[in-house]
Amino acid sequence: MDSQAKLNNYLNENFDRIVSMLQEWLTIPSISTLPEHAGDVQRAAQWAVERLSAIGFPEARIVSTAGHPLVYAEWQVDSQQPTLLIYGHYDVQPVDPVHEWSSPPFQPTLRDGYIYGRGASDDKGQIMLVLAALEAWAETNTTQPVNVKILLEGEEEAGGAAVGDYVLNHPETLRADAVLICDTHMVNAGQPSLITSLRGILYTEIAVSGAKTDLHSGSYGGVAPNPLHALCLLISRLKSEDGSIHIPQLASAIPAASLTEKQFWQEDPLHIQKELLVEMGVNKMVGETSYPPLERIGLRPTLEVHGIRGGFSGEGAKTVIPARAVAKVSLRLPANLDPNEVFGWLLQAVQSNMPAGYQFHLSNLHAGKGISVNPDNPYIRAAAEAVEVIFGTLPVFMREGGSIPIAALFDEVLQVPIVLLGFGLPGDRVHAPNENFSLDQFRKGMKTVADFLGRIRHSKP
Ligand code: BES
Ligand code: MN
Ligand code: MN
Repeated sequence: MDSQAKLNNYLNENFDRIVSMLQEWLTIPSISTLPEHAGDVQRAAQWAVERLSAIGFPEARIVSTAGHPLVYAEWQVDSQQPTLLIYGHYDVQPVDPVHEWSSPPFQPTLRDGYIYGRGASDDKGQIMLVLAALEAWAETNTTQPVNVKILLEGEEEAGGAAVGDYVLNHPETLRADAVLICDTHMVNAGQPSLITSLRGILYTEIAVSGAKTDLHSGSYGGVAPNPLHALCLLISRLKSEDGSIHIPQLASAIPAASLTEKQFWQEDPLHIQKELLVEMGVNKMVGETSYPPLERIGLRPTLEVHGIRGGFSGEGAKTVIPARAVAKVSLRLPANLDPNEVFGWLLQAVQSNMPAGYQFHLSNLHAGKGISVNPDNPYIRAAAEAVEVIFGTLPVFMREGGSIPIAALFDEVLQVPIVLLGFGLPGDRVHAPNENFSLDQFRKGMKTVADFLGRIRHSKP
């Protein structure tokens, strides 16, 4: 039996056990953004350390930080071989609205070929398939084909700073020839893809105040400032109905796309636009109609309001003019833009569009730069070959609208190829109720990563 057949055999034979290990990990509610789950986040990290040790990593440890812990592991096999750094995040999103889940979010359940549970796809399930591939190499060859470093973080979903500080302060520990990140999705089950860019993100909070206290809307309505209304006006001035964003500096800072890419967006040969409508359950898209939807998701900046707090939103009626209101507003940004610089632009735009008669404070909750990778390197070629072998179809290169902030820092600090090879599907419902991961994608994912590891042997320059 050749090496690939042995790996695939091992992964098939151990599939059920690997899935049940994933289920065990998924029962730990490692929600990074909720302080009451800090202990669970710690337990999920510990679980990963134990799994890595069991696979055979000579070094596997918790790295304490000011926030949630990191997990670091290393398996040096041969200094003549390249070193692969693998990144993932073991924290998960909150589960609300929890009554919309068909099975409890932390009681992972297998149904109709999918595993349901918070973190199934984003990102514990995808880390688990990488660990399975490493285990397969360890068990069938007693070692790894290349040197492997693993860095897992526990606050990706909270935009945390710990992993960024670690990367900036430990470039030598992390030194590698390439980085592998499995935390994205493919076009669909029949069409695998590799990601060539991620958008950056700037997440802000706008607090607005008017009167010194809440007021009776009869006695003061007509003269009192209403911070909720001010926020509505402001937001509609920052982004109008046609989707255009009114931050003057932005317009001139957007990079141009290649002709091939524009054509791909325009023609949409994979019919992604139709799938998007189905996924969203709508019959019409909103936004900048002068740009194709794929460009709007992959390259254009966007501004979204996530929530507005203030006044009265309980059952029934209460006639109040609130003294204060707060909105959460984020921007997605093309990879070339520095989100912290964009914060300055946004501040100016808020200053000039805020209605008169209000005080406001704009805070930068977190900012992460996007990334754009040149796929012309041996590591991404190896990933494409592995995908083709296991999926039976050549992958397409796609831009992803979501963000993985640490990827940009890897790019800056390590300056090596970053392979964005995710196995999720658009229907995974990441961040939403009923998050799930296709077991078929999981199985193919393990095999693809195992194959990829073998392919990058001896590719060191
Ligand atoms: N895995 C996602 C990024 C992603 C989203 C990839 C959609 C592919 C499709 C990641 O966990 C994530 O959710 N990132 C956050 C980053 C933010 C909280 C700093 C995001 O994009 O909102
Ligand atoms: Mn993720
Ligand atoms: Mn996520």
